[in-house]
Parts: sequence; structure tokens; C-alpha cells
Amino acid sequence: MKKVVVNKKASQTLLQFFPWVYRSDIVTPLEKFGIEVVHIENEQGKFLGIGYINPKSTIAIRILSFSNEPIDANFFKKRVQEALYKRLDIPSNAYRLIHSEADMLPGLIVDKYEEYLSIHFVTAGILLFQEEIVKTLFEITAPKGAYITAPESAMRKEGEEPFEKMIGALPEHIEIEENGIRFVVDIKNSQKTGFYLDQRANRAIVTKFMKQKERMLDCFSNSGGFGLYAASKKGADVEIVDISSQALALAKSNFRLNGVVGKFVEANVFDYLRELRKKKAKFDTVVLDPPSFAKSRHQKGGALKGFKDISVNAMKLLDEGGKLALFSCSHYVDMDDLVHIVLKAAKDNHKRVEVLAHMYQDIDHPYILNNPFSLYLKGLLIQVTSH
Ligand SMILES: C[S@@+](CC[C@H](N)C(=O)[O-])C[C@H]1O[C@@H](n2cnc3c(N)ncnc32)[C@H](O)[C@@H]1O
Repeated sequence: MKKVVVNKKASQTLLQFFPWVYRSDIVTPLEKFGIEVVHIENEQGKFLGIGYINPKSTIAIRILSFSNEPIDANFFKKRVQEALYKRLDIPSNAYRLIHSEADMLPGLIVDKYEEYLSIHFVTAGILLFQEEIVKTLFEITAPKGAYITAPESAMRKEGEEPFEKMIGALPEHIEIEENGIRFVVDIKNSQKTGFYLDQRANRAIVTKFMKQKERMLDCFSNSGGFGLYAASKKGADVEIVDISSQALALAKSNFRLNGVVGKFVEANVFDYLRELRKKKAKFDTVVLDPPSFAKSRHQKGGALKGFKDISVNAMKLLDEGGKLALFSCSHYVDMDDLVHIVLKAAKDNHKRVEVLAHMYQDIDHPYILNNPFSLYLKGLLIQVTSH
């Protein structure tokens, strides 16, 4: 295995278990390397970790282990078993089994949907272990089938060819159950790896605070998770809004599957909230769960404007004592930003705001304090009054 020497800055961050080395912090000439496993040392020859290197990538090394250990079949078995053990108490037969760096398998995302796996290789480096990883996952979880992909969006950045393949029989739609609610998941054609598993706990929190028969507006609904919980558990009168017809079709199937009804609107939430205001519509709970408006630090300003716009308009749709759930799935828009956005919207609307819950990504998407990037989903549930 080749050695890579890194500078003092990278040495310090690796000693604090940060899982990446940036290209600019590598001392050894990069021409020496292809995409391969490397042993990392500082300029004093101290061992810092083992990782894979992609010299073309800004994040040039991703750490596989902070111990000096062989990266072999046993290594992958141990990693998958540790990950599985952490997820034993999840109230669903669908969960994220491997969450990349947060489970010390950088570049690998694995979701388990009932008896099927959705396996995403999102870096060139992790593809070095493709065969070993798939074999280990099959040995440990014994699925009926798997969808395996190196998606185009990720491979373009890594300079590799995308691919997708299947092992075993894979139904077009897989039925899962989460907190007693049934969903159909399309793992080949969905926006994510199949389903927004990270919102599982938050769907339950928002529903818990609702009274029976409330009027709910679920904006950026995707397959209808928040609205469906509300309709099934609280008999809520739910309006679902998403820009994607495919997401809405899934949402409709999900409502049908659970024997509840809802209203489904294909629209741009930014415009639709204004339309509802004109009509003087009122709701008891509004959920705003937009896509990541800020994929990098530079996009944060624009993202905050977007958040402010939807929050002000959503607040105007709430009846006295109504609740707003506002989420950010961008690492760059954090909990403090959400607090400021809500407070600004409250000032504009002359409202008093009480925080009912702080919400985060569910536990199958672990948050490692040493790696701030591993925290990405944050939410605030607030109650809004006029006095
Ligand atoms: C983070 S996902 C929502 C996940 C969902 N709340 C759940 O629990 O499954 C964001 C959704 O916003 C939708 N979307 C993106 N831009 C939109 C827009 N301007 N108006 C309406 N929906 C939009 C996407 O189609 C996607 O389904």
C-alpha cells in the first residue's frame, strides 16, 4: 500500500477524527496516485489513518479507518454489523443501513426496504470494493434482491462511468411500513435512494402535536409522508403540494393504501402559497420541507431568501394557534438560521412564536460531532399566536 504524507493542518484534523483530506493538504506529489487505498502519515511519520485516494477530487482522501488494520472481508463485515446493530430499534422495516462517512464507509449509501436493498456507490474510491461490499451485504442481510447503482450525478464529479444493475427479482414498487403506516417505494425511479427515511421521527413528532381533524397543508410533500401520518393518525383534512407529478402519484397511492383521502396539488409552492393567501385559505398545521436550497456555502444567501418567502407566506395561512414545521436539509442552513427566519417572519406578521420541538435527521442517518457535515437535516416546529 502506498504512503501519502499530509501537512500539519490535515494531520490535526485527522487526529480529531475528521474523515476527509483535501487535495491542497497533501504533501506527496499527487501524480504518484491513481484511485487506490493509501496509508496516511504526517510529516513526522506518524500514522493517521487508511483511506482511498482520488487525486482528481477536491476531497482527495476519504478515511476508511483511523486504525492500522487490513481493509479486507472482515473489515467490511465488522462495519456492516456495527451499522446494523445501531438500527435495531427503528420502528419500520425500512431504514438507512449505511450512511457513508457517518458509518465509516465513505461513498456508500445503503437503504433497506423490507426485503430489498438499494445500494448507491457515490465515489470512485468506494467502487474499488464493490464486489466485497455487495457480497458482505448479502451475507449479513440476506435480501431477496438489490438495486445497485453508481449514479450519473455522482460519477460525473468523480470522472467515472455511471451504471445501474439489479440482483435478484426487484418489484417495481416495494411496500414498507413505518410507525404503522404503509408506503409504496420506487427505488429505481425516485428522487432519493427511494424514500425520505431521514424524516421518520419528525413525521411522528409533528403528528403528535396535532389535534383530531385539523386542516394540514403539506408543502414539498414528495410521497406524502407528513400528510399521510396526519390523515391516518389524526383524521386530518390534508392538502398535499409538490412540483413533481411522479411524487404526487406515489402520494396518491400511499393515501389509497392506508384507506384515507386527501387533496393533491401539483404546483410550485412559492406560487401556490400566494394563491392560497389570495383565497384566504386557513390551516391548523403547515409543513415546509423544501429540497436543499443551498448545496454550497455560496448559495446560502439565496436559500435564506427562499426560506423567508415561504415562511412569511405560510405563517399568514395559519389560524390562531396554528403550527408551522420548517425544515432545512442543507448543511449550510442551520438551526440558528431557521430560528432567525422564523423570528423575522413572526415580526413581519406581528406574531408570538413558541418552539414546540427541535427536530433532526433520524438515527439511521448518524451525526458524528467530529464531522460537522454529517448534520444536515434540521427542523423547527413552532406554534404561532397573536397574543
Ligand atoms: C425534501 S423533499 C420532501 C420530503 C417529504 N416531506 C417526505 O417526507 O417524504 C422535497 C420535495 O420538494 C419538491 N419540490 C422541489 N421544488 C419544489 C417547488 N418549488 N414547489 C413544490 N415542490 C417542490 C420535490 O419534488 C421533493 O419532492
